[in-house]
Amino acid sequence: PVLVVDYGAQYAQLIARRVRETQIYSEVVPHDTPVEEIVRRDPAALVLSGGPSSVYAEDAPQVDPALFEAGVPVFGICYGFQAMTAALGGTVEHTGTREYGRTELEITGDGGALHEELPGHHPVWMSHGDSVSKAPEGFTVTAGSKDTPVAAYEDRNRRLAGVQYHPEVAHSPHGQEVLRRFLHDIAGIKPQWTTASIVDDTVQAIREQVGDRRAICGLSGGVDSAVAGALVQRAIGEQLTCVFVDHGLLRAGERAQVERDFVAATGVKLVTVDATEQFLGALAGVTDPEEKRKIIGREFIRSFEQAARDLVQGSEGDVDFLVQGTLYPDVVESGGGSGAANIKSHHNVGGLPDDLQFQLVEPLRALFKDEVRRVGLELGLPETIVHRQPFPGPGLGIRIIGEVTADRLETLRAADSIAREELTAAGLDRDIWQCPVVLLADVRSVGVQGDGRTYGHPVVLRPVSSEDAMTADWTRLPYDVLERISTRITNEVAEVNRVTLDVTSKPPGTIEWE
Ligand code: XMP
Repeated sequence: PVLVVDYGAQYAQLIARRVRETQIYSEVVPHDTPVEEIVRRDPAALVLSGGPSSVYAEDAPQVDPALFEAGVPVFGICYGFQAMTAALGGTVEHTGTREYGRTELEITGDGGALHEELPGHHPVWMSHGDSVSKAPEGFTVTAGSKDTPVAAYEDRNRRLAGVQYHPEVAHSPHGQEVLRRFLHDIAGIKPQWTTASIVDDTVQAIREQVGDRRAICGLSGGVDSAVAGALVQRAIGEQLTCVFVDHGLLRAGERAQVERDFVAATGVKLVTVDATEQFLGALAGVTDPEEKRKIIGREFIRSFEQAARDLVQGSEGDVDFLVQGTLYPDVVESGGGSGAANIKSHHNVGGLPDDLQFQLVEPLRALFKDEVRRVGLELGLPETIVHRQPFPGPGLGIRIIGEVTADRLETLRAADSIAREELTAAGLDRDIWQCPVVLLADVRSVGVQGDGRTYGHPVVLRPVSSEDAMTADWTRLPYDVLERISTRITNEVAEVNRVTLDVTSKPPGTIEWE
């Protein structure tokens, strides 16, 4: 792999993704990983990430000079560029001028392998206080900026290079090309990490792990569990059974989509558990959001475990494996990356107990979300499953403000389905992260329809744009789309006589209302 050495930047995972976009496999490792450990992993190249520190700060993470003697190509970015400079005998100065944000890069000479034939001046994203004033021995300086004499250098013989700016962010429009040139041209790595190769390798690994034993997979209706299930199905076929718990809190058409589209695309054995009454019974009279979440989580585990027991009893062999859709960012964030399986705290099926007697199969452990989507398409899953909006495990139960009842669910389902239809028809699915529709079931307002007074409930549209749901902004939907949604909901859903728009970012609001 190409190892991205993480110096504490929020950018390390992004760099790994960008490396993978050049069709080369990449993983993140912490900066305190010993050089011997790094060399033992036989990396095709190293990328030293940016970081918050100054190389002169007391606790600044240093780069061990031994790293450059291993013959491994190295690319330094921002802090990594400066740390590399210091380790190799160049000069990093505390200039006092900070460069932050969009900056003009000025190419010097022919631009070297990294910048050759790119525009002589082009914008890049900078974020630094210290500057490199003198490159180490043997390096050619190929770019500078107004405040930084040395903004890029390279030594093609030793296959070492670095840039002061952040090539991984979208604000550096040629950044991806520069990263690609380092990996392909300077480091000489062959691009082989393709969706097809991911599928082949993963299928092989699952076969080795599971052998001729049996596995179950809980489907949540979300992208990750669907793709994980489809991969395991491709690997072990009949030895897999998928379990889908219908808790009655699903959106319109979701159960049918799993039962019809997912099964058609994969040929998987599917057991659907109809647990609507069980869930609604447990939720009766409950209005507190946290209490709702706990009840839904608990009932979910009960239904899933019951289904698993039924399955074991009704068949000749034991079920030894549980398939989970854990993604690479979860692995990095829980400090894992290599070695023992790390059960993350919240997963697709909503918190299974530790004493569940299964070994885990986690076929998506190495992948980012966009890769998971591409794998899904490669496996023949329909767009409707692969590009669906994130939907919370507790479902519509936390989008009804007030008690959850069958009637209220029906009302919300109808309104939600109209909003989704209109957003899709307007081609906005890829522009929004998700658009919860929330029913204010305990609020009523007066309206007039036909010649009569109405006294109905409002719904709230909550369209948000986000990269990762940690932060979000409210999406500026076109007025004509809002108008169509509003008109249709108030005309077609009898109990709703008012449509409102949530214009709160996150923070301070969360995406969901409960
Ligand atoms: P919040 O409301 O915290 O939501 O801003 C962030 C993202 O997480 C989703 N979400 C959940 N997903 N189980 C899930 O699988 C949950 O309990 C849950 N709660 C919120 C939410 O839809 C948004 O994408």
